[in-house]
Amino acid sequence: MMKNYTHINDIDNINSWIEEAKEIKANPLKNIELGKNKTLGLLFFNSSLRTRLSTQKAAINLGMNPIVMNVSDDAWGIEFEDGTVMNGKTAEHIKEAAAVISQYCDVIAVRAFPTLTDKEKDESEHVLNSFMKFASVPILSMESATGHPLQGLTDAITISENSTKKKPKIVLSWAPHIKALPHAVANSFVQTMQKMDVEFVIANPEGYNLNPAITKDTLIYNNQEAAFKDADFVYTKNWSSYKDYGKVLKTDVDWMITKDKIGLAKFMHCLPVRRNVVVEAAVLDSENSLVIQQANNRTFAAQLVLKRILENV
Ligand code: CP
Repeated sequence: MMKNYTHINDIDNINSWIEEAKEIKANPLKNIELGKNKTLGLLFFNSSLRTRLSTQKAAINLGMNPIVMNVSDDAWGIEFEDGTVMNGKTAEHIKEAAAVISQYCDVIAVRAFPTLTDKEKDESEHVLNSFMKFASVPILSMESATGHPLQGLTDAITISENSTKKKPKIVLSWAPHIKALPHAVANSFVQTMQKMDVEFVIANPEGYNLNPAITKDTLIYNNQEAAFKDADFVYTKNWSSYKDYGKVLKTDVDWMITKDKIGLAKFMHCLPVRRNVVVEAAVLDSENSLVIQQANNRTFAAQLVLKRILENV
């Protein structure tokens, strides 16, 4: 029984979830009655293209009514600290906000990125956990400070669809970026791969190891070429340093993904991606790129999760 979906560990059996997502993809309107007269509230504290549209699409496929708010731009500033004298920028406390939104919505979906300056605050998942604490309806993470579980599920589905081997080799590779980016997508990808029957390694420069509590005993290479040997899938993502929290230590192009580097391996990225910074345009434009299929699968991952939540509401 699933109430909330906020972490990859909410997936009890990755293989059965992948199979059910594929069934949904083959027949997306099969459960159109399930969400009838139910409302999904989508709250965005940060920008989005795929998550915003695919999660709405998933809700519509289930017969739900999605309502969307750009919280950071359009709502009153929300206070998350308890006991604060609210004489500053924030005008409404999460206790009231979450309780009120719960009266309008049967499920609340939240996107809230990390600060990347306050590690303790980010790891406390204060936005997501405050909604879980003060809302009276199920909570769906649309990417939080430390995880992007809808993306992780999507990636599992996409690898399964494209795998020609019983146990493919998957590499998660760091790639350069001009800005400090969160660890959420990489974290959830690592946690997803650890649940699957695959050979999984990570490639990142020194200083860029992800949280060791998440990578656990996954092999980490500081040499991209060595990691890419015999790879079937190269999943690329930039993230800022975890150790030197939120810092960009390296922007030079020597870790950019190129056709030469990945050879015949399939290329994956959660998008959005900066062409010729993170990855050579030729890779994105090649037949080996799965990024568009991956983005399509966001709908079916979200639909599976919403279906499971609705079956439990
Ligand atoms: N991959 C992903 O979450 O895309 P958006 O940021 O556009 O939602």
